[in-house]
Amino acid sequence: MGETIKTIFHLSDIHIGESGVSLGDFREVIEAIEKRTPHMTSPLILITGDLTGEGLREEYEAFAEVLEGIDTPMVIIPGNHDERNYGAAHFEEIFGERFKTYEDDSIALYAADSAEPDNDAGHVGRTKYNEIHDFLGAAKEKVRIFALHHHLVPVPNTGREHNVVEDAGAVLGLLDRVQCSIVLNGHRHVPWMWNLNDMVLYTTGTLLSRRIRGATTQVYSLIELSKSDVTFTLVEKSGSASLFSRSDLRPDVLG
Ligand SMILES: [Fe+2]
Repeated sequence: MGETIKTIFHLSDIHIGESGVSLGDFREVIEAIEKRTPHMTSPLILITGDLTGEGLREEYEAFAEVLEGIDTPMVIIPGNHDERNYGAAHFEEIFGERFKTYEDDSIALYAADSAEPDNDAGHVGRTKYNEIHDFLGAAKEKVRIFALHHHLVPVPNTGREHNVVEDAGAVLGLLDRVQCSIVLNGHRHVPWMWNLNDMVLYTTGTLLSRRIRGATTQVYSLIELSKSDVTFTLVEKSGSASLFSRSDLRPDVLG
């Protein structure tokens, strides 16, 4: 692996409020991450939705309270559970825009809300395509990353397919045209990586939900980027870590 230029702590599917999910466990994970970040290169915390179980006000407030005082930059977008009971209103009030961008010297990240009120299906939407194209297309010398809650390509070992993004073909075509390097998402609760053309598609696991599938466990992903490759390490809430996968990054973006 080349020299690390960016470290992303990728959390997803925390489901605060869901039966068996402990707010104390979430606090411990966040505190452990905050202790690690001073030793990491350019750290960022990315949370790809399903912060809550049912999109309720008290679930959002409990989640936000854990993040108070965290100095590491954060990008947070909602998932389908967060938009139940019109939770999008609480999300916007507490965490701001549902579509976000983040950019520094190393990466350009477009984070999209793929959820809709009271609908578990994933959807990005044509009205956002130009914005995504212009933002990622302008960051030619950086690692271009697209984040969302739902998956664009089915994930193995998760059962039958229900919620792949409805406009996945159009979104994948768009991302390929702007030479996106990495797509990051959650939703399926099972870690997986695909290579598609020159893109890396990565699904992280659930951080705390008990609704894990098969032999997987609760994890977040530590993502280390160099100019030429990316490494995904799974970290359990106990702190124990294991290398999951790595991939080269498309050279035409980074040359
Ligand atoms: Fe989800």
